[in-house]
Amino acid sequence: MTTPDALRYTRIPLNNGSGAIPAAGFGTLIPDPVATRQATKAALEAGFRHLDGAERYRNEEAVGDAMQNVFRAGTVRREDVFVTTKLWNTNHRPERVKAAFDGSRRRLRLDHIDCYLIHTPFAFQPGDEQDPRDASGRVIYDSGVTLVETWHALERLVDDGHCKAIGLSDITLEKLREIVAAARIKPAVVQVESHPYLPEWDLLDFCRQHGIVLQAFAALGHAMEPRVIDDPVVRAIAHRVGKTPAQVLLAWAVQRGTSFLTTSTNPGRILENFDISALPEDAMQEIRDSITTNVRFNSVVETGVPGFIPRAKS
Ligand SMILES: NC(=O)c1ccc[n+]([C@@H]2O[C@H](COP(=O)([O-])OP(=O)(O)OC[C@H]3O[C@@H](n4cnc5c(N)ncnc54)[C@H](OP(=O)(O)O)[C@@H]3O)[C@@H](O)[C@H]2O)c1
Repeated sequence: MTTPDALRYTRIPLNNGSGAIPAAGFGTLIPDPVATRQATKAALEAGFRHLDGAERYRNEEAVGDAMQNVFRAGTVRREDVFVTTKLWNTNHRPERVKAAFDGSRRRLRLDHIDCYLIHTPFAFQPGDEQDPRDASGRVIYDSGVTLVETWHALERLVDDGHCKAIGLSDITLEKLREIVAAARIKPAVVQVESHPYLPEWDLLDFCRQHGIVLQAFAALGHAMEPRVIDDPVVRAIAHRVGKTPAQVLLAWAVQRGTSFLTTSTNPGRILENFDISALPEDAMQEIRDSITTNVRFNSVVETGVPGFIPRAKS
């Protein structure tokens, strides 16, 4: 049994919005609503105070149910939970943004959202079909709106008061620079895939310079091959410090100054993923210096279409 330390309670200050974001985040990309309800409730009970959702996950009602359940029980207060959700690609047109945001608020049953992200920089044909395709199966993009125009619509949500902070997801450094240059309200958060196989150091450096929090999704590599959780460097450190490989990966994420998002429907793993402890500095350095594998698991940054890419076992 290890002694709990403060790492799991780390909060990172935001450049606008709800003060600070808890570094340890629980993601709700879970297809089944019953599993979503159970896992979200278990995450809040385990100590997670940061939830990540999206209109696109089609389960905001279930996330809302789980939160209300825990708030009613009196074990967790709304003001202690940081909730992020995201604008989907089909709602990039400025005139669609407020309705999409209010739809998420209604489904989540929340008066305000702590952080609203543009889910991807790709605008799709506006409408209720989340995955619009032409007769050949190709995605129908929308060239009638720019990312800067959508960003300004998010800024107006902040002005209205129900949205505390805004940010971007699945964005490249180049596109982020454009938004930072054009923004009246700077992005507070940037959510991208990141783990030791895709550390995104350049993006992290830029975020640090601008007071932007980098939120690392797939912090455990989405349990895909090649499994970062089975990496020999990570496993050896886990053995040395008496923690699991997952706990090493999540501690690494917090100690290098990012927030992480992890997901599990397994109650034991949810507890494990919150039970992180600080790593010695030499372990942090070893992960940075000795792991050279470079893999992106999710292709969403290339097309705007979400999806982890299965790979053959090497
Ligand atoms: N912005 C975007 O485009 C985007 C894209 C993807 C994800 N996200 C967000 O990021 C969140 C996290 O992403 P992710 O699901 O890829 O995270 P992840 O934590 O890297 O991967 C989750 C997978 O790891 C397994 N797992 C969890 N804890 C484990 C542990 N302690 N030991 C071994 N395996 C473990 C889970 O299986 P079990 O359930 O069986 O435990 C699940 O298969 C999502 O829920 C979503 O909120 C955002």
